[in-house]
Amino acid sequence: MQTPLHFAQTNQERHLQELIEFLRIPSISTQPECSADTRAAANWLLTALTEAGLENARLIETQRHPLLYADWLHAGADAPTVLIYGHYDVQPADPLELWTTPPFAPDVRDNYLYARGASDDKGQVYVHVKAVAAYLQTNGRLPINVKFIIEGEEESGGESLAAFIPRHKDLLAADIAVVSDTAILGPEQPAIVYGLRGICYLFLDITGPEHDLHSGSFGGGINNPLNVLGHIIAKLKDEEGHILIPGFYDRVRPLSAAERALLNQLPLNEAEWLAQTGAPAAWGEPEYTLVERLGARPTLDIHGIIGGYTGNGGKTVLPAAVHAKISMRLVPDQDPEEIHAAFAAYVQAIAPPSVTVTVSGGHGAKASITDYTIPAMQAAAAAYTESFGKEPVFMREGGSIPVVGLFQNHLGVETVLMGFGLHDDRIHSPNERFYLPNYYRGIETSIRFLQKYGNV
Ligand code: BES
Ligand code: ZN
Repeated sequence: MQTPLHFAQTNQERHLQELIEFLRIPSISTQPECSADTRAAANWLLTALTEAGLENARLIETQRHPLLYADWLHAGADAPTVLIYGHYDVQPADPLELWTTPPFAPDVRDNYLYARGASDDKGQVYVHVKAVAAYLQTNGRLPINVKFIIEGEEESGGESLAAFIPRHKDLLAADIAVVSDTAILGPEQPAIVYGLRGICYLFLDITGPEHDLHSGSFGGGINNPLNVLGHIIAKLKDEEGHILIPGFYDRVRPLSAAERALLNQLPLNEAEWLAQTGAPAAWGEPEYTLVERLGARPTLDIHGIIGGYTGNGGKTVLPAAVHAKISMRLVPDQDPEEIHAAFAAYVQAIAPPSVTVTVSGGHGAKASITDYTIPAMQAAAAAYTESFGKEPVFMREGGSIPVVGLFQNHLGVETVLMGFGLHDDRIHSPNERFYLPNYYRGIETSIRFLQKYGNV
């Protein structure tokens, strides 16, 4: 009889073709014109979960995009239960002209699969679907109980899952959660992420005159909301990256000497890291090392500004209104709602009376941190070691996966972040890709994890 690992190794081509099919569906959750495609991706995955041999596979309707649930719970009452989470939605593909091949026409070049969602997160969630299929198609059973919960709004706030979790604690009850939605340190250097940053995302709107005004007739007499936005932004943080909002750092848990030592042991090559960004120099708070700044320090960034005339040629106008999209990445124990309030109070305090400023949300998530000595982490480490031939490092990650904090707070369940992406996968950016050898090794790692965690 074939073993699950052998099944994974002999079906690589098929697993690639299936992922390509999944990636063809433009499930951009934030764009209303993609809502039919987002549902189509959910339906595609529903079929895949069913064909894998999972039971109770179903779509769960929400206010926006459906959730997916499936399970296999016949490993016995003493066997642990793992809750596997992922997301089938993707980020918008813009700017389209910068893609070498179209974002939803997956293309393999040099061992990489290029497509929007290849790494974030369709490829990574599909790893676990195939690991489970490998067991059920060979042994007819799994070594442990498995539940899948997959959402379609991770890239656009995740409200539906956030509302679902506290109301379905029994359905989602588990001993551990597994999420593959992070990167490892290098193609041959596996990593387990034990800390994620939180986020507070918000919108800043500034309005001045009731309608656009001629800048010759009114300039000098009426304040320009776009100029005000520039002043406000300049007061949000200093040039070294220190955030100037009163109270912003109040709840930041200091980094212990032990954790700083662990973080700074990471084999991160700064020059290679910088080269992959194409930026001329690294930047950030001088009192912290790069590794600390990337995962363990909070940040504030402007993501977009809408305002004024941006068409061809010039137009002399004082715009009536401007808008900015801003986020702050948070660390333990900052609270997204408190940070939102502190931001709003500060901006109101520094805004001149010649404009009206409004701050609105957005979404928020707390940072999360997990003890990396727990048995599930050790089982994952052993699984990586066998699949990659190298022990994983433990690290913190700067991105946010809101569900990790929700599992902790509502279900009392810790998460193992079993990532298979790479930091140069260009997630959220043109030419997103997934390194195929690690797609296949990911399936093997998941197979080994399920086995090892069943034995602890
Ligand atoms: N997969 C990412 C999180 C991530 C980013 C992990 C970088 C590792 C490295 C996830 O899909 C994501 O992008 N999350 C959003 C969450 C936000 C919209 C609430 C993020 O971090 O911006
Ligand atoms: Zn993701």
